[in-house]
Amino acid sequence: MAKSKEIKLKHVAFIMDGNGRWAKRRGLPRHLGHKAGCDRIIDIYEECLAQDIKVMSLYAFSTENWNRPKDEINHLFNYLDIFFKKQIKRIIKDGSRVIISGDISALPKKTQKTINEAIEKTKECKNFVFNICLNYGGKAEIVRAAKLLAEEVKNNKIKIEDIDENAFSNHLYTAGLPDVDLLIRTSGELRTSNYLPWQLAYAEFIFPEIPWPDFTKEEFRKCINEYYSRNRRFGGINDDEK
Ligand code: IPE
Ligand code: IPE
Ligand code: MG
Repeated sequence: MAKSKEIKLKHVAFIMDGNGRWAKRRGLPRHLGHKAGCDRIIDIYEECLAQDIKVMSLYAFSTENWNRPKDEINHLFNYLDIFFKKQIKRIIKDGSRVIISGDISALPKKTQKTINEAIEKTKECKNFVFNICLNYGGKAEIVRAAKLLAEEVKNNKIKIEDIDENAFSNHLYTAGLPDVDLLIRTSGELRTSNYLPWQLAYAEFIFPEIPWPDFTKEEFRKCINEYYSRNRRFGGINDDEK
């Protein structure tokens, strides 16, 4: 069994938390925290490319976030729309593929259009995967995968015996992607809030205290160093522990 420093960081997942508190502390409306948060994304994406990471997942909106005031929700989708309109050219140039985990059919038409264009224009890109989790819930994703598999059994496409971890994985939104190596949740909250429960099964967790709008490349690099100092055992024993 290798140590973390030998287990390359391929997939990093972020819970971009703390936007609202960041704004409140400055006497600003919460939505300006989301604006500042959206402005952070591109720097962190750039650093992923610089570090030769292959997949970045971002928690942008959870199935539970519908419980927020309508005005805040509308602002959030609007900022995401602006983000993609502004960055799509460079995302294409980088050879990065945009994928969405979640059901975007409930989003405003304008946002759906922008996102579907980003997916379409980058579908052949192979260098990097930019996975935006939007109207995403981990429990809903698992139920969806179970239903898809049940359909296939019903239609005699597969047998029950064919359902294993690999088959299940291939029916999640993240089909074909490696599991998450590192989860970073900013703002000091110590929970996963229904985020990628299957994919995080063996991830390393880091919870920086700072809110997402203050999460810089430098802070991200500290997390990467921390990741490589961890001992990932996967249930085994490392050579130096025998
Ligand atoms: C996370 O920031 C952003 C989204 C939910 C999209 P919050 O809005 O949850 O910020 P806090 O946790 O209230 O500070
Ligand atoms: C999780 O953050 C969702 C996103 C960052 C999109 P929340 O702020 O919504 O999570 P809770 O409610 O504190 O668990
Ligand atoms: Mg929050």
